Amino acid sequence: MPSRTPPPTWASYQGSIGDRSALFAALAQRWRIDSALYPGCYLDLSPSTAIADVTYVDMDKRAARYFSSPGLADQELRGHGVEDERRFAFIHADYSTPLPIPERSVDLLISLYAGLVTESCRRYVKDGGLILANASHGDASLAALDPTFEFVAAVLHDDHDYRVDATELDTYLVPRSRSTPTPESIRASGRAVPLTREAFAYLFRAR
Ligand SMILES: C[S@@+](CC[C@H](N)C(=O)[O-])C[C@H]1O[C@@H](n2cnc3c(N)ncnc32)[C@H](O)[C@@H]1O
Repeated sequence: MPSRTPPPTWASYQGSIGDRSALFAALAQRWRIDSALYPGCYLDLSPSTAIADVTYVDMDKRAARYFSSPGLADQELRGHGVEDERRFAFIHADYSTPLPIPERSVDLLISLYAGLVTESCRRYVKDGGLILANASHGDASLAALDPTFEFVAAVLHDDHDYRVDATELDTYLVPRSRSTPTPESIRASGRAVPLTREAFAYLFRAR
């Protein structure tokens, strides 16, 4: 029998993570971003407030239920003041398996608190495209060690706003420990590498 309980919503999830719309507005203001891929999105619909075409991926059933509820995401975006046409798709899958999207097709890959997304999904980013990764699970530190990525900015967050900082980049992503982490040690630990200066997330350009 179909479940009668209402699906979870982005609005209710904001109670846990806040509203990240200002983050994506700050990115879209600085770079041209027409499309994004968000593996491990759960119920975070905020990229669609600023980006015209977003593909969301998650293996969680609640995320699948949310995105398959007719009109619900559209309604939440309109309630958020988004009037422009938005295209979004949801793929109910493990992002480490091949996804039904073309390689080198998106302007932005989003990796927030969902594991080592960057390694699995980098292939979907256009040459010259952007990767937004945070320190969770060591993803940003792993990206920083990848010679095919260029670190271009940090994203800072305070209670009220998100800000892109492209100055003094050499002060970010510096491990606190004197022993330099390697890709192997980061993958094996699956944890954030403690850093001397923290940011909400880090932006890389795919070369
Ligand atoms: C802690 S939540 C973070 C959600 C969202 N990115 C955020 O920042 O609020 C992690 C999400 O990643 C999803 N996830 C983790 N590993 C995954 C995988 N291999 N494939 C698809 N989804 C995955 C989980 O199902 C969960 O919804």
